[in-house]
Amino acid sequence: MGWVTGVVQERKQWTERLFSLRVDAEVEPFKAGQFNRLRLEIDGEMVGRPYSYVNAPDERPLDFYLITVPDGPLSNRLAALEPGDTVEVMPRATGFFTLDELPDSRDLWLLSTGTALGPFLSILKTDAPWERFQNIRLIHAVRQAEELTYQDTLRQFQERAPQQFQYIPFVSREPFAGGLEGRVPAAIAEGRLEHHAGLKITPEHSQVMLCGNPAMVQDTTAILKERGLAKNRRRKPGHITTENYW
Ligand SMILES: Cc1cc2nc3c(=O)[nH]c(=O)nc-3n(C[C@H](O)[C@H](O)[C@H](O)COP(=O)(O)OP(=O)(O)OC[C@H]3O[C@@H](n4cnc5c(N)ncnc54)[C@H](O)[C@@H]3O)c2cc1C
Ligand SMILES: NC(=O)c1ccc[n+]([C@@H]2O[C@H](COP(=O)([O-])OP(=O)(O)OC[C@H]3O[C@@H](n4cnc5c(N)ncnc54)[C@H](OP(=O)(O)O)[C@@H]3O)[C@@H](O)[C@H]2O)c1
Repeated sequence: MGWVTGVVQERKQWTERLFSLRVDAEVEPFKAGQFNRLRLEIDGEMVGRPYSYVNAPDERPLDFYLITVPDGPLSNRLAALEPGDTVEVMPRATGFFTLDELPDSRDLWLLSTGTALGPFLSILKTDAPWERFQNIRLIHAVRQAEELTYQDTLRQFQERAPQQFQYIPFVSREPFAGGLEGRVPAAIAEGRLEHHAGLKITPEHSQVMLCGNPAMVQDTTAILKERGLAKNRRRKPGHITTENYW
Protein backbone atom coordinates (compact mmCIF):
# COMPACT_ATOMS: atom_id res chain seq x y z
CA MET A 1 0.00 0.00 0.00
CA GLY A 2 1.29 3.47 -0.82
CA TRP A 3 2.05 6.21 1.68
CA VAL A 4 0.50 9.66 1.80
CA THR A 5 2.31 12.91 2.49
CA GLY A 6 1.57 14.52 5.83
CA VAL A 7 2.39 18.12 6.66
CA VAL A 8 3.52 18.96 10.18
CA GLN A 9 1.24 21.60 11.64
CA GLU A 10 2.84 21.78 15.07
CA ARG A 11 5.52 20.16 17.18
CA LYS A 12 4.71 20.59 20.85
CA GLN A 13 7.76 20.04 23.02
CA TRP A 14 6.70 18.85 26.51
CA THR A 15 10.13 18.08 27.96
CA GLU A 16 13.62 17.72 26.52
CA ARG A 17 12.68 14.25 25.19
CA LEU A 18 8.89 14.20 24.94
CA PHE A 19 6.98 15.87 22.13
CA SER A 20 3.75 15.69 20.15
CA LEU A 21 3.54 15.96 16.39
CA ARG A 22 0.35 17.36 14.93
CA VAL A 23 0.08 16.34 11.31
CA ASP A 24 -2.32 17.11 8.46
CA ALA A 25 -2.77 14.04 6.24
CA GLU A 26 -5.55 12.40 4.25
CA VAL A 27 -6.05 9.12 6.10
CA GLU A 28 -8.82 6.54 6.15
CA PRO A 29 -11.21 6.22 9.09
CA PHE A 30 -9.71 4.39 12.10
CA LYS A 31 -10.74 3.07 15.51
CA ALA A 32 -9.57 4.69 18.75
CA GLY A 33 -6.59 2.72 20.07
CA GLN A 34 -5.19 1.87 16.65
CA PHE A 35 -1.79 2.93 15.37
CA ASN A 36 -0.47 4.27 12.09
CA ARG A 37 3.08 4.48 10.77
CA LEU A 38 5.31 7.50 10.21
CA ARG A 39 8.17 7.35 7.72
CA LEU A 40 11.11 9.55 6.74
CA GLU A 41 14.03 9.17 4.39
CA ILE A 42 17.20 8.75 6.45
CA ASP A 43 20.56 8.57 4.65
CA GLY A 44 18.89 7.45 1.45
CA GLU A 45 16.72 4.78 3.12
CA MET A 46 13.04 4.97 3.99
CA VAL A 47 12.59 4.30 7.75
CA GLY A 48 9.06 3.80 9.11
CA ARG A 49 7.80 2.91 12.61
CA PRO A 50 4.38 2.45 14.26
CA TYR A 51 2.84 5.33 16.26
CA SER A 52 -0.51 5.32 18.05
CA TYR A 53 -3.11 7.95 17.33
CA VAL A 54 -3.75 10.28 20.25
CA ASN A 55 -6.52 12.14 18.44
CA ALA A 56 -10.03 10.72 18.38
CA PRO A 57 -11.19 9.25 15.06
CA ASP A 58 -13.22 12.38 14.27
CA GLU A 59 -10.54 14.83 15.42
CA ARG A 60 -7.97 16.63 13.26
CA PRO A 61 -5.08 17.25 12.96
CA LEU A 62 -3.63 13.80 13.60
CA ASP A 63 -1.80 13.79 16.94
CA PHE A 64 1.16 11.55 17.77
CA TYR A 65 2.97 11.48 21.15
CA LEU A 66 6.66 10.56 21.04
CA ILE A 67 9.86 10.22 22.99
CA THR A 68 13.31 10.61 21.51
CA VAL A 69 15.15 7.39 22.26
CA PRO A 70 18.95 7.68 22.66
CA ASP A 71 20.46 6.77 19.26
CA GLY A 72 16.99 5.91 17.92
CA PRO A 73 17.10 6.38 14.16
CA LEU A 74 13.57 7.64 13.54
CA SER A 75 12.48 9.28 16.80
CA ASN A 76 15.41 11.72 16.71
CA ARG A 77 14.58 12.72 13.12
CA LEU A 78 10.90 13.16 13.90
CA ALA A 79 11.89 15.36 16.86
CA ALA A 80 13.65 17.72 14.48
CA LEU A 81 10.59 18.34 12.27
CA GLU A 82 9.21 21.88 12.15
CA PRO A 83 5.82 23.19 11.00
CA GLY A 84 5.59 22.93 7.22
CA ASP A 85 7.95 19.92 7.02
CA THR A 86 6.57 16.71 5.55
CA VAL A 87 6.41 13.17 6.92
CA GLU A 88 4.97 10.09 5.21
CA VAL A 89 1.91 8.50 6.81
CA MET A 90 0.11 5.24 6.00
CA PRO A 91 -3.39 5.83 4.69
CA ARG A 92 -4.78 2.99 6.81
CA ALA A 93 -4.33 2.41 10.56
CA THR A 94 -3.98 -1.07 12.08
CA GLY A 95 -4.15 -2.80 15.46
CA PHE A 96 -6.55 -4.59 17.77
CA PHE A 97 -5.92 -2.50 20.89
CA THR A 98 -9.46 -1.20 20.66
CA LEU A 99 -12.48 -1.31 22.95
CA ASP A 100 -14.52 -3.44 20.57
CA GLU A 101 -12.10 -6.30 21.30
CA LEU A 102 -13.07 -6.20 25.01
CA PRO A 103 -15.94 -8.13 26.61
CA ASP A 104 -18.37 -6.07 28.65
CA SER A 105 -17.60 -5.56 32.31
CA ARG A 106 -18.23 -3.08 35.09
CA ASP A 107 -14.74 -1.56 35.40
CA LEU A 108 -12.16 -0.50 32.84
CA TRP A 109 -8.50 -0.20 33.87
CA LEU A 110 -6.15 1.53 31.40
CA LEU A 111 -2.48 1.11 32.35
CA SER A 112 0.29 2.89 30.44
CA THR A 113 3.97 3.77 30.64
CA GLY A 114 5.51 6.81 28.96
CA THR A 115 4.17 7.64 25.50
CA ALA A 116 1.72 4.73 25.64
CA LEU A 117 -0.69 7.12 27.31
CA GLY A 118 -1.59 8.10 23.74
CA PRO A 119 -4.00 5.34 22.65
CA PHE A 120 -5.91 5.68 25.92
CA LEU A 121 -6.45 9.39 25.30
CA SER A 122 -7.85 8.57 21.87
CA ILE A 123 -10.16 5.94 23.37
CA LEU A 124 -11.33 8.28 26.16
CA LYS A 125 -12.13 11.01 23.64
CA THR A 126 -14.83 8.73 22.20
CA ASP A 127 -18.21 7.98 23.81
CA ALA A 128 -17.79 4.19 23.99
CA PRO A 129 -15.84 3.83 27.26
CA TRP A 130 -18.14 6.24 29.09
CA GLU A 131 -21.23 4.39 27.86
CA ARG A 132 -19.92 0.87 28.45
CA PHE A 133 -18.10 1.03 31.81
CA GLN A 134 -19.28 2.17 35.20
CA ASN A 135 -15.78 2.92 36.52
CA ILE A 136 -12.72 3.98 34.53
CA ARG A 137 -9.19 4.19 35.97
CA LEU A 138 -6.39 5.62 33.82
CA ILE A 139 -2.86 4.93 35.08
CA HIS A 140 0.13 6.77 33.61
CA ALA A 141 3.54 5.58 34.86
CA VAL A 142 6.61 7.72 34.16
CA ARG A 143 10.10 8.21 35.53
CA GLN A 144 9.77 11.87 36.46
CA ALA A 145 6.81 14.10 37.28
CA GLU A 146 7.54 16.48 34.39
CA GLU A 147 6.64 13.57 32.06
CA LEU A 148 3.00 13.66 33.22
CA THR A 149 1.82 15.36 30.05
CA TYR A 150 -1.58 16.07 28.43
CA GLN A 151 -2.91 17.44 31.71
CA ASP A 152 -5.49 19.68 29.96
CA THR A 153 -7.01 16.68 28.18
CA LEU A 154 -7.03 14.67 31.41
CA ARG A 155 -8.80 17.50 33.23
CA GLN A 156 -11.54 17.40 30.59
CA PHE A 157 -12.14 13.70 31.28
CA GLN A 158 -12.21 14.39 35.01
CA GLU A 159 -14.75 17.19 34.50
CA ARG A 160 -16.84 15.06 32.16
CA ALA A 161 -17.28 12.28 34.71
CA PRO A 162 -15.86 13.01 38.17
CA GLN A 163 -17.45 9.90 39.75
CA GLN A 164 -16.80 7.51 36.89
CA PHE A 165 -13.22 8.50 36.04
CA GLN A 166 -9.97 8.69 37.99
CA TYR A 167 -6.52 9.53 36.63
CA ILE A 168 -3.72 7.92 38.65
CA PRO A 169 -0.17 9.09 37.89
CA PHE A 170 2.87 7.03 38.94
CA VAL A 171 6.38 8.47 39.26
CA SER A 172 9.26 6.03 39.72
CA ARG A 173 12.48 8.00 39.95
CA GLU A 174 11.79 10.90 42.26
CA PRO A 175 9.57 11.57 45.27
CA PHE A 176 6.00 12.30 44.19
CA ALA A 177 3.10 13.44 46.32
CA GLY A 178 0.52 13.85 43.53
CA GLY A 179 -0.21 10.15 42.98
CA LEU A 180 1.71 6.92 43.54
CA GLU A 181 5.45 6.26 43.65
CA GLY A 182 7.26 3.28 42.17
CA ARG A 183 6.12 0.74 39.59
CA VAL A 184 2.66 -0.54 38.66
CA PRO A 185 3.13 -4.31 39.26
CA ALA A 186 4.54 -3.73 42.75
CA ALA A 187 1.72 -1.33 43.58
CA ILE A 188 -0.83 -3.96 42.53
CA ALA A 189 0.93 -6.69 44.51
CA GLU A 190 1.04 -4.48 47.60
CA GLY A 191 -2.58 -3.39 47.22
CA ARG A 192 -1.53 0.29 46.93
CA LEU A 193 -3.06 0.85 43.51
CA GLU A 194 -6.48 -0.53 44.39
CA HIS A 195 -6.50 1.32 47.70
CA HIS A 196 -5.76 4.59 45.86
CA ALA A 197 -8.36 3.79 43.20
CA GLY A 198 -11.03 2.76 45.69
CA LEU A 199 -11.68 -0.26 43.49
CA LYS A 200 -10.55 -3.91 43.37
CA ILE A 201 -9.23 -5.64 40.28
CA THR A 202 -11.24 -8.85 39.93
CA PRO A 203 -12.11 -11.30 37.12
CA GLU A 204 -15.80 -10.64 37.84
CA HIS A 205 -15.70 -6.90 37.28
CA SER A 206 -12.48 -5.82 35.54
CA GLN A 207 -11.21 -5.37 32.01
CA VAL A 208 -7.55 -4.30 31.94
CA MET A 209 -5.70 -2.77 29.00
CA LEU A 210 -1.88 -2.58 29.26
CA CYS A 211 0.27 -0.54 26.90
CA GLY A 212 3.91 0.52 26.59
CA ASN A 213 7.07 -0.90 28.14
CA PRO A 214 7.01 -4.68 27.45
CA ALA A 215 8.53 -5.45 30.85
CA MET A 216 5.70 -3.56 32.56
CA VAL A 217 3.16 -5.37 30.39
CA GLN A 218 4.72 -8.75 31.21
CA ASP A 219 5.17 -8.16 34.96
CA THR A 220 1.69 -6.72 35.36
CA THR A 221 0.12 -9.56 33.37
CA ALA A 222 1.83 -12.07 35.68
CA ILE A 223 0.42 -10.36 38.79
CA LEU A 224 -3.06 -10.15 37.28
CA LYS A 225 -2.98 -13.84 36.33
CA GLU A 226 -2.27 -14.65 39.99
CA ARG A 227 -5.53 -12.80 40.72
CA GLY A 228 -7.44 -15.06 38.32
CA LEU A 229 -7.55 -12.73 35.33
CA ALA A 230 -6.75 -14.22 31.91
CA LYS A 231 -5.48 -12.85 28.60
CA ASN A 232 -8.29 -11.70 26.35
CA ARG A 233 -8.32 -13.61 23.09
CA ARG A 234 -10.78 -13.50 20.24
CA ARG A 235 -11.54 -17.21 20.54
CA LYS A 236 -11.40 -17.20 24.35
CA PRO A 237 -12.46 -13.89 25.89
CA GLY A 238 -10.60 -12.88 29.06
CA HIS A 239 -9.69 -9.75 30.99
CA ILE A 240 -6.22 -8.58 29.92
CA THR A 241 -5.60 -6.86 26.55
CA THR A 242 -2.05 -5.75 25.76
CA GLU A 243 0.10 -3.77 23.34
CA ASN A 244 3.91 -3.67 23.53
CA TYR A 245 5.72 -0.62 22.16
CA TRP A 246 8.97 -2.52 21.54
C1 LIG B 1 2.16 -0.77 18.06
C2 LIG B 1 3.21 0.25 18.39
C3 LIG B 1 2.84 1.57 18.64
C4 LIG B 1 3.79 2.52 18.98
N1 LIG B 1 3.40 3.80 19.28
C5 LIG B 1 4.31 4.70 19.71
C6 LIG B 1 3.92 6.02 20.10
O1 LIG B 1 2.73 6.37 20.02
N2 LIG B 1 4.88 6.87 20.55
C7 LIG B 1 6.20 6.50 20.65
O2 LIG B 1 7.04 7.31 21.08
N3 LIG B 1 6.60 5.27 20.25
C8 LIG B 1 5.70 4.38 19.78
N4 LIG B 1 6.12 3.14 19.39
C9 LIG B 1 7.58 2.90 19.28
C10 LIG B 1 8.07 3.47 17.94
O3 LIG B 1 7.55 2.70 16.87
C11 LIG B 1 9.59 3.52 17.78
O4 LIG B 1 10.15 2.30 18.17
C12 LIG B 1 10.21 4.64 18.62
O5 LIG B 1 9.77 5.93 18.15
C13 LIG B 1 11.75 4.65 18.52
O6 LIG B 1 12.11 4.67 17.17
P1 LIG B 1 13.63 4.78 16.78
O7 LIG B 1 13.78 4.49 15.33
O8 LIG B 1 14.19 6.12 17.23
O9 LIG B 1 14.34 3.66 17.65
P2 LIG B 1 14.05 2.08 17.64
O10 LIG B 1 15.23 1.42 17.02
O11 LIG B 1 12.71 1.79 17.03
O12 LIG B 1 13.95 1.75 19.18
C14 LIG B 1 15.12 1.63 19.99
C15 LIG B 1 14.75 1.30 21.43
O13 LIG B 1 14.10 2.42 22.05
C16 LIG B 1 13.23 2.01 23.09
N5 LIG B 1 11.88 2.56 22.79
C17 LIG B 1 11.21 2.52 21.61
N6 LIG B 1 10.01 3.16 21.71
C18 LIG B 1 9.96 3.65 22.95
C19 LIG B 1 8.98 4.41 23.64
N7 LIG B 1 7.82 4.80 23.05
N8 LIG B 1 9.21 4.74 24.92
C20 LIG B 1 10.36 4.36 25.55
N9 LIG B 1 11.32 3.64 24.95
C21 LIG B 1 11.13 3.28 23.67
C22 LIG B 1 13.27 0.48 23.08
O14 LIG B 1 14.21 0.07 24.04
C23 LIG B 1 13.76 0.17 21.67
O15 LIG B 1 14.36 -1.08 21.59
C24 LIG B 1 5.17 2.17 19.04
C25 LIG B 1 5.54 0.86 18.75
C26 LIG B 1 4.59 -0.09 18.44
C27 LIG B 1 5.03 -1.51 18.16
N1 LIG C 1 12.53 9.46 30.73
C1 LIG C 1 13.75 9.97 30.88
O1 LIG C 1 13.97 10.94 31.61
C2 LIG C 1 14.91 9.35 30.14
C3 LIG C 1 16.21 9.70 30.48
C4 LIG C 1 17.25 9.10 29.81
C5 LIG C 1 16.97 8.17 28.81
N2 LIG C 1 15.71 7.86 28.49
C6 LIG C 1 15.45 6.91 27.42
O2 LIG C 1 14.10 6.97 27.03
C7 LIG C 1 13.57 5.65 26.97
C8 LIG C 1 12.67 5.40 28.16
O3 LIG C 1 11.55 6.19 28.06
P1 LIG C 1 10.47 6.28 29.20
O4 LIG C 1 11.06 6.81 30.45
O5 LIG C 1 9.31 6.95 28.62
O6 LIG C 1 10.04 4.74 29.35
P2 LIG C 1 10.35 3.58 30.38
O7 LIG C 1 11.80 3.33 30.57
O8 LIG C 1 9.52 2.48 29.87
O9 LIG C 1 9.79 4.09 31.81
C9 LIG C 1 8.44 4.45 32.01
C10 LIG C 1 7.96 3.86 33.31
O10 LIG C 1 7.88 2.45 33.19
C11 LIG C 1 8.45 1.88 34.34
N3 LIG C 1 8.91 0.50 34.15
C12 LIG C 1 10.03 0.06 33.53
N4 LIG C 1 10.10 -1.28 33.60
C13 LIG C 1 9.03 -1.70 34.31
C14 LIG C 1 8.55 -2.96 34.73
N5 LIG C 1 9.19 -4.11 34.47
N6 LIG C 1 7.41 -3.01 35.43
C15 LIG C 1 6.74 -1.88 35.73
N7 LIG C 1 7.14 -0.66 35.37
C16 LIG C 1 8.27 -0.57 34.65
C17 LIG C 1 9.59 2.81 34.69
O11 LIG C 1 9.98 2.58 36.03
P3 LIG C 1 11.55 2.65 36.47
O12 LIG C 1 11.90 4.10 36.52
O13 LIG C 1 11.53 1.99 37.82
O14 LIG C 1 12.35 1.89 35.46
C18 LIG C 1 8.91 4.15 34.46
O15 LIG C 1 8.17 4.52 35.59
C19 LIG C 1 14.70 4.71 27.02
O16 LIG C 1 15.15 4.51 25.72
C20 LIG C 1 15.71 5.49 27.87
O17 LIG C 1 17.02 5.09 27.59
C21 LIG C 1 14.67 8.43 29.16
